[in-house]
Amino acid sequence: MCGIVGYVGENNAKDIIIDGLKKLEYRGYDSSGIALNIGGKLVVRKCKGRISNLEEMIAGENLFATAGIGHTRWATHGAPSDLNAHPHTNGDNTIAVVHNGIIENFVELKEWLSRDYGVEFRSETDTEVIAHLIGIYYNGDLLDAVYKAVDKMRGAYALGVVCAAEPDKIVAVRKDSPLVVGLGNNCNFIASDIPALLKHVRSIYLIENNEVVLLTKNEVKLFNAERKPVHRDVFHVTWDADAAEKEGYDHFMIKEIHEQPKGLYETLHRRIGEDGIIRLDGITMTKEDIERFSKVYIVACGTAYHAGLVGKYIIEKLAKIPVEVDVASEFRYRDPFVDDKTLFIAISQSGETLDTLAALREAKRKGARVLSVVNVVGSSVARESDDMFYTWAGPEIAVASTKAYTTQLMCMYLIALYMGAGKGVLSRAEYDEYLKELGELPELLQKVLDQENKIHDIAKKLYKSQQVFFIGRGLDSSVAYEGSLKLKEISYTNSFAIAAGELKHGTIALIEQDTLVIALATQDFLFEKMLSNIQEVKARGAYVLGLAKENNREIERQSDQVIYIPECRDELTPILSVVPLQILAYYVAKLRGCDIDKPKNLAKSVTVE
Ligand code: G6P
Repeated sequence: MCGIVGYVGENNAKDIIIDGLKKLEYRGYDSSGIALNIGGKLVVRKCKGRISNLEEMIAGENLFATAGIGHTRWATHGAPSDLNAHPHTNGDNTIAVVHNGIIENFVELKEWLSRDYGVEFRSETDTEVIAHLIGIYYNGDLLDAVYKAVDKMRGAYALGVVCAAEPDKIVAVRKDSPLVVGLGNNCNFIASDIPALLKHVRSIYLIENNEVVLLTKNEVKLFNAERKPVHRDVFHVTWDADAAEKEGYDHFMIKEIHEQPKGLYETLHRRIGEDGIIRLDGITMTKEDIERFSKVYIVACGTAYHAGLVGKYIIEKLAKIPVEVDVASEFRYRDPFVDDKTLFIAISQSGETLDTLAALREAKRKGARVLSVVNVVGSSVARESDDMFYTWAGPEIAVASTKAYTTQLMCMYLIALYMGAGKGVLSRAEYDEYLKELGELPELLQKVLDQENKIHDIAKKLYKSQQVFFIGRGLDSSVAYEGSLKLKEISYTNSFAIAAGELKHGTIALIEQDTLVIALATQDFLFEKMLSNIQEVKARGAYVLGLAKENNREIERQSDQVIYIPECRDELTPILSVVPLQILAYYVAKLRGCDIDKPKNLAKSVTVE
């Protein structure tokens, strides 16, 4: 997904911007570029491929400037190419723009600019339209020209704009696409994401929708859509900059897998008061609010959706309220039945996934109370919700989500307990027992991580499999979906998950000699049923990797390989059972030589439809 970095100060803007762009590589991109103001002229360099290509392109050039903007692009309008890469400029190269998001009316604007102003377009992008628009409105005041251009635009955008005639300024705008400002000493920054700035600043302004920012090296001015000055409190980032580095691991993904006990601990322990009662800091729902809800919707995308599948099971069980789970791209277009008695829970690691945000707005419009479970502080989903519940997983860099998922699950348990207790359907004894067992999970998860070498060995045997089926029942089927997604997204193995009881209704036709089946059998009350399903696939020649709690040794008789997780109650297994599947996917991908942290065609944060 696209990334923006801009700098205005006294030092070498080129190096600072390129360094910042590298910190955003995890978002996924296909080209990159930079615009620098050198001696009253805009110098733009951009190319397809990795940032290292851009560095090679400009090596040996003297590009010293004290202000500039840079971009990593993830193609939406127009294929990845040198020409379509950002920054884009107007006809006489006096305005340069970097843009995240989509301009919905760009075709209309393009026609108008060509017809009435004779503009010739050099790229296929929607972004180029913005540069020309600002260009035609420019009359010695960049801020004014940006306001006028924005007035014509429909869509989602975060913009960074520089102008040849105003060498010491950057103008930035935000609408439905993230943008932050970093406050330095004799320098200021813009970025689409905080990690791009952590090396330089800790004091941040989180820019709100429709705000316009004017930056010089000594000043940052914020204005609203009516051009009135806006005050913003400084947000102090407490993350350790090193948290965004790999810390000795080969990949961010495996580092983040190992950070899960800590993420779970943080997500849970900071929220339990001395009286043993859960305090959900960003949640203001009263007992009366909870009693009023007649239904819960959980809506999300990708891995977050899989966390929602577990959430449904747990909330229905502990809070005794019907829960529907939906993928955001479906929910937003199907006129779902939502009213003011609905609790809408959005789950999102980034808090910027466009479909999730649109679904949230739709639910809000229909009167639902919106609670979000989000990892990125100050993100759009969080800010547009009535109640917020941060996952405290820390920054997640690998495209494949791991620690965000397990902390999202922890949040699901805490919300279920909170609601169950609020409604009075959960006894204090049960509540206390659940909390105690949730508290034991970080340690139990560490025991699963300690089996990494064993799982690596299993991966060595299985990594050439062309096709893999994940099966499970109850909560295990929800985890099967996540295990299958992990494997396919990073190792490009054709994998498929299905509720084990459904196998016989079609999918079993695909099982043949040596087909790999990963069978999750962690639910005690469904264990016998799973053994029968394993027998069904074994009878057709499948090679079975079983996953069970450590006391259920009987699975060894039916399976070719077994991985055990520590004993815990059935409802809590997903946090433990997903971890061997994450590790397995990681090593299969590694053995297949895949680009693990940046899988092809995928992006960390999907801020377009
Ligand atoms: C992308 C990411 C996934 C993530 C999904 C939802 O597809 O690659 O890892 O689960 O988006 O993202 P969100 O930030 O809303 O959780």
